Amino acid sequence: MPFHGYHHITATVTNARADVDFHVGLLGLRNVKRTVLLDGKRPFYHLYYGNEHGEPGTLLTSFVFGKDRPEGRRGSGQVSSISLSVPTNSLSFWADRFAARGIAYREFELLGRRRLWFAHPDGIEYQLVGVDSDVRPPWDKSDVPPAAAIRGVHSVTVCTREVDELNMFLLDGMGLDSIDTDGSVSSYAMAQGHAGQLVEIDHRPDVAQGSWGYMRNTIDHVAFDIREAQAQLGFKDRLEAMGFIDVTEPRDRNYFYSVYFRTPAGAMFEATRSHPLGFLKDEELDSLGSCLQLPQWIEERQPELLAEINTLEPLD
Ligand SMILES: [Fe+2]
Repeated sequence: MPFHGYHHITATVTNARADVDFHVGLLGLRNVKRTVLLDGKRPFYHLYYGNEHGEPGTLLTSFVFGKDRPEGRRGSGQVSSISLSVPTNSLSFWADRFAARGIAYREFELLGRRRLWFAHPDGIEYQLVGVDSDVRPPWDKSDVPPAAAIRGVHSVTVCTREVDELNMFLLDGMGLDSIDTDGSVSSYAMAQGHAGQLVEIDHRPDVAQGSWGYMRNTIDHVAFDIREAQAQLGFKDRLEAMGFIDVTEPRDRNYFYSVYFRTPAGAMFEATRSHPLGFLKDEELDSLGSCLQLPQWIEERQPELLAEINTLEPLD
């Protein structure tokens, strides 16, 4: 099994300031990097949130599209929810925090875990999942008490109207184990199956296909931590040998190297290994996320690119 857990989860959002307020101000995560996405000709903010070092498995990232991109359609073949791990006895703290800020939430139980459902200002669905055995160190310099702080990603939920091929892909392609089912939701495990090593599949036969490509206000993709270059290439070969040839070459994403692969349900996954320096590549630990950082290859395209970046919404 090549995967150690999650690396990062990336959503597409409309407004940068609201995104920072949500992840830093409400959830108490650290903004560990401010950079830009440049897959086309126009740059967009790419914002990263996590624990102190921005370790894999604690990372949520946002592409900020403004209103330049159409709003995505949520549906089958997409990640439908991001679940974050918190101590079980902190769920009442979080419910009070949401209530005090007028944020809608719902308490429920699924797969044996107490949970709180809530949403990002752009409608992206989140859950806090109560876990008592999560030893990952949280960011402890927010106004959330460390005893209640988010430990990292618990899982994601993938919504799909057809489950058989995705099930086979997770088991035989990615090497996950099937562990439990509760109603329409089944869970799968990587590694030891701890928080941050779980994938949930919501089988919803009546849901229409969600949108593809860069659309805003959806969850764009999910990255899994594969760590070794050989394992990353071996995984690509394994998928291709199974006939899943929608797999990219490793791409340099400045702080990590990514192989993107499309699942049979349509959701975009990524097999990711961090750069040895991670987010310390271009900033000191104490000042992570304090200034916009541009990859060297983008800086070589100055000044027309900087002029574009200067038109983006101010972050402070
Ligand atoms: Fe990614």
